[in-house]
This record gives sequence, C-alpha cells and structure tokens, in this order.
Amino acid sequence: MKIVSSVSEMKNLSLTFQRAGRRIALVPTMGALHEGHLSLLKTAKRRCDTAVMSIFVNPTQFGPREDFANYPRPFEEDCARAEKAGCDVVFAPVKEEMYPEGSATVVTVEQLSDQLCGASRPGHFKGVATVVLKFFNIVSPHTAVFGLKDALQCILLKRMALDLNLSVELVFAATVRETDGLAMSSRNTYLTSAERRDAPLLFEGLQNARALYDAGERNASRLRSSVMGVYGRSIAFTVEYVEIVDLVHVQPLAVLDKAGLVAVAVRTRETDTRLIDNTILGGTL
Ligand code: PAJ
Repeated sequence: MKIVSSVSEMKNLSLTFQRAGRRIALVPTMGALHEGHLSLLKTAKRRCDTAVMSIFVNPTQFGPREDFANYPRPFEEDCARAEKAGCDVVFAPVKEEMYPEGSATVVTVEQLSDQLCGASRPGHFKGVATVVLKFFNIVSPHTAVFGLKDALQCILLKRMALDLNLSVELVFAATVRETDGLAMSSRNTYLTSAERRDAPLLFEGLQNARALYDAGERNASRLRSSVMGVYGRSIAFTVEYVEIVDLVHVQPLAVLDKAGLVAVAVRTRETDTRLIDNTILGGTL
C-alpha cells in the first residue's frame, strides 16, 4: 500500500492508474478507523480496481468549540488497518497544502446545510462539501463511497454532485454497528461507562419506529413519539433532535406517504459527546 501526502503526487498517481485502465474508488475519512470505515473500503474494492482512502482531519468542518484539536489521529494504526482491508493508497495531505494561504473558495449546498446537524453546527457542511469536492478533483475517482451513518452528509453530497454535474458515482453503504446496536463512531471512545451503557438506546428508539412503520403506522408524530419514549429512559444523554424528514429537501414530513429519514442526535451529559444515528423508512438514498 502506498502512502501519499503530496497533492501533486496523488494527482499523478491517479493519472497513472487511469492510463492503465484502472477504475479508482475513493473513501474519504478523517481517520481513527473502525470497522465502519473498513466496510467502506471493502465496498470500494468490490466496485473498482483501486481503492484510495483519504485520511484528513478537515479543520473547516469543525466549529470553534468542537473537538478538532483533540480528534484522535492514530495514523500508523490506521494505515495498518487500511492495508489489511485491501486499501491500495492512503492519501493523507497536510492542511497547509489543502488550504493554501489565502484560500477563499467554498462550496455551499444552500438550504440543506442548515438542516438537522447543520442547525447546531454552522459552517460544518460547507466544510464537508468543499473538502470532498477538493478530494474528487485531486483523486478523480470513478466512484466514491460514503456511510449512511451520516445520512445528511450523503443527501448533501448527492445534491452537490447533481447540481455541479460531477462525473463521480456516489455509493452509500449501510451503517456498521457494535453487537448491542450502537453505530460505530470515532467519538464512541469519548464516552464514560454510564454513557456507553445508555448509548444503544439510540438505535433501540429507531428500531421502535421501524417496527411501528412496518405495522402500518404512517403518522410522523406518532412515529417520533415512539422514538422519544425510548430516549426518555436515558439519564446519560439529552435529545438534540428527533426528526422525520423527506430525502430530497430534508423537510419535516407529517405523513410518511413517501420515503422518510428518521434522524436523531443526542448529547451525553458528562462528556458532552454528540451521537447521531438514523434509519430510512420506505426507501433508500
Ligand atoms: P468520518 O467521520 O471519518 O467518516 C468517514 C466515512 O465513514 C463517512 O462516509 C461516514 O459516513 C462513514 N462511517 C462512519 N461511521 C460509520 C459506520 N458506523 N458504518 C459505516 N460507515 C461509517 O464523514 C467524515 O469523516 C467527513 O465528513 C468526510 C466525508 C471525510 C469529509 O471530511
């Protein structure tokens, strides 16, 4: 497996792959790799000849009071894990090269950027869309793989690809979970044991909504109450939002007469860790 840090070297390498007729799949990450990230690599390898994983803790998507400085960066372990999962190239640029002095151009996906997590994280999705487009331009992938764990990120990147006529094919992969249902996340390591004990409730609430939906319930407020009922049992976290929205405009649905995203975010009381999860009822992205 190659490890590349220079943007021009990555561009040249991609060109070499393409000239050899190899299809490239890109898996963008911020490192601290877990099984969820590695499952995206496996999807990438199934669909293309060459898998490139970017590892870059992107400063522009963190708010001033967020965990940019403390975000885990176990780079050597990440490389070993990526290689074992079949990765061909790790691209790990430095921020000075990604954002050269005077850097001023950004991508804003209007409206969508302010929904769900975007409401409490101003500028977050602008940072995400901008860095992902930069990675697309550097790596020129045929396919890029993202996790449905971050559903709004998927919706927003799909919008960007459509609106800006990008040629890259976007693939969205299922959320990988711990055995108790908690969605894998680099931030799970922040949790105290009491917080970790309550964290599976996040998924339990979503499963409640799915069971009701499967039994025929289409009223969004009743589906939402079934989720809130479960979260009310937790003393370790407070609810930031439980929303049921459509998959295009990300606007609240009153009735699920079309596919709906049930998206949830909570904050733990002790370590103030933000956990998100979601499920899609009646469709896919
Ligand atoms: P990061 O949080 O490192 O996640 C990288 C990719 O892994 C994202 O597509 C995310 O949805 C996916 N992922 C995270 N947890 C997962 C899980 N449990 N199961 C399956 N996939 C999972 O998302 C980002 O980084 C950044 O915003 C990025 C797109 C890299 C831009 O900086």
